[in-house]
Amino acid sequence: MSDLPGKRASPVLILLAVVATLAVAHCSQEWSAPPEAIAVKSPLAATPQALAAGAALFDDKCANCHGEKGKADGPEADKYWVKPQDLTEPRVMALMTEGEIFWKISEGRRPMPAFKEQFSEEQRWQLVQFVRSLVPKPPAPPPEKKTPPAKKSAAKKSAPAKN
Ligand code: HEC
Repeated sequence: MSDLPGKRASPVLILLAVVATLAVAHCSQEWSAPPEAIAVKSPLAATPQALAAGAALFDDKCANCHGEKGKADGPEADKYWVKPQDLTEPRVMALMTEGEIFWKISEGRRPMPAFKEQFSEEQRWQLVQFVRSLVPKPPAPPPEKKTPPAKKSAAKKSAPAKN
């Protein structure tokens, strides 16, 4: 059995397996901020000025990977072994607190650079506000509307059908 020539794993295959394992391990690993960072509230409101400033910084430093609108389609998006997060994805982004986004922008995680040296705190908060503005708002939860219209129209429809 052991004299079969193909029996020994080639070094190249071993290397590939190791790289694949590392890549999978990286992707499946949650990137979470420490609890104290998650709890931090933005000192900056999402004013038009803050959003405009954030947009300019984003265009300059983030869009090459994340895409102009945050859709992870920047020119460098496919260059790395980890795809940039789609910043418009509500299932991911709506769950993240301001503090968490701030921390992630500050610390980075390869291949995403850390921005705490490059940007002042204020600039990073402007980015946080801008990033949050990229997430489409959930389809208007209507707290004001008094009646669920679906039921009403269904009742109306079924009434004339009987006649
Ligand atoms: C070199 C490419 C690159 C650049 C430049 C970059 N990012 Fe990222 N970003 C990534 C990648 C890749 C991920 C996914 C990282 C991961 O999940 O390990 C990511 C993830 C994120 C996330 C989500 C983190 C999460 O938990 O999913 C946010 C928010 C973010 N980036 C914001 C920014 C902002 C703001 C900038 C500019 C200041 C920026 N990024 C610049 C590549 C980049």
